Amino acid sequence: MSLNRCHNIDHLRAKAKRRLPAPIFHYLDGGADDEVTLRRNTDAFDDYEFVPNLLHDTTSIDTKIKVLGVELDWPVFLSPTGMSKLFHHTGELAAAQAAHTAGTLYSLSTMSTTTIEDVAAETPGPKMFQVYVYKDRGLTKEFIERCKAAKYDAICLTIDVPVPGNRERDKITGMTMPPKLSLSSIFSFATHPHWSLNALRDPSFDLANMSKSKDLSIKGKQVSPTQYLSSQVDNSITWKDAEWMAQEWGGRFVIKGVHSAHDARKAAEIGAHGVMVSNHGGRQLDGVQACIDALPPIVDAVGGELDVILDGGIRRGTHVIKALALGATACSIGRSYLYGLAAGGREGVEKALTLLRKEIENDMALMGVSKISDITREMVVRRGTEL
Ligand code: LAC
Repeated sequence: MSLNRCHNIDHLRAKAKRRLPAPIFHYLDGGADDEVTLRRNTDAFDDYEFVPNLLHDTTSIDTKIKVLGVELDWPVFLSPTGMSKLFHHTGELAAAQAAHTAGTLYSLSTMSTTTIEDVAAETPGPKMFQVYVYKDRGLTKEFIERCKAAKYDAICLTIDVPVPGNRERDKITGMTMPPKLSLSSIFSFATHPHWSLNALRDPSFDLANMSKSKDLSIKGKQVSPTQYLSSQVDNSITWKDAEWMAQEWGGRFVIKGVHSAHDARKAAEIGAHGVMVSNHGGRQLDGVQACIDALPPIVDAVGGELDVILDGGIRRGTHVIKALALGATACSIGRSYLYGLAAGGREGVEKALTLLRKEIENDMALMGVSKISDITREMVVRRGTEL
C-alpha cells in the first residue's frame, strides 16, 4: 500500500506494521499490562458527542493557536517519543522537519537517537526537549544548558516513569534496547530486509545525547547509553526537584504525565507554564483514566492559568476538537506520527500531520466554527446526556 492510499492514521499503522520487524512494531504499538489504558485513551473519545450549531460562515477556517508562548498553525504538535531511528533510519530529523513543514512544534525525547544540537541545526521551527530528573543532577543540568544554547522554546519533565512500565509485548517478542538479534526475533528481522539493511547502514540505535566522553558504567560494568540513562532515572524525586528544574531552566516549563487536578495545581505552584495530561500512551500504569476523561477536572483546576495539553489516544480530527471543546489548549500525538514515520520516513510523518489537519478543518466546518476559539464547552456532551 503506497502512502497515497493511506487515508487515515489506522492505514498508516497498517503500513507501519508491514514494514517493521515485529519486535520493533510491538514496542511502538504496545502498552503496559493488559493495555486497558492504551485502548481507553482512544475509545473514550466515543463517550463524548458533538452538538454542532450550524448556519455559520465557514468559508475560511483558521486553525491557529498559541501554546507555551509559541504560535502554531494548528492545534496538534509532536510529543516526545524515544528512539525514533528504530522506526525509520531517518529518525528524529525526519520527524522534526515534517513538524516544521506542517507549522507545528516538535518535541525531542531525552531517549532520542539524534542530539539536541542536530535537531536544532536542522529545524528553525519551535522545539521542546523532554527530560527526567536524573540521580546525577549534573546530567540534568547539562541537558538544560544545552537546550538553552540550542534555543529550545520549552522543556518538559516527564513524571510518570519512576520505574519502567510492564510492557509484556516486548517480553514476548524479545525486544531489547538497543535491539539485538535473539532466537525469538531473528526470523522477523530476516523477513524485513528493507528495514534491516537501512538499520545496518546507520546502526546508531543508541541514545545520542549522552556525551561521548562520559563513563558509562554501573557498578564498574560498562553498559550501553540506554541502560545507563535508564539506571539514572531517580525515583526519589519530588515536586521540590521539579521546582529546582523549573528554576534552572528559567523558560517555559511543562509537567508531562499529569492525571489529576491535584498534580496540575502542584505544577502551577512550582511555576510550570503547562501540563500534559498524559499516561505515557498507556505504557506505564495500566488502569489509569483515559486522558480525555482526566481532562475536565484538570481544566477546572488550572485552565486559564496553565496551558493544558491533551496527550493521548488521538487518531482523528474529531478527537482533537473534543479535547479543545473540553478545555485543552492544544493536543499532542506520539504513535500517530510514528506510524507515519515507520510507513514512509519524513513523507510519512507529513502524511500523518496533513491527514489530521485536513480532518480538523473539515470537522470545524461541519461543526459550524471557523476559528479555534469558537469551539466551546457546550459543543460536546457526554454520551447519554439529555439535551
Ligand atoms: C517509552 C519511553 C522511551 O515509552 O518513553 O518507551
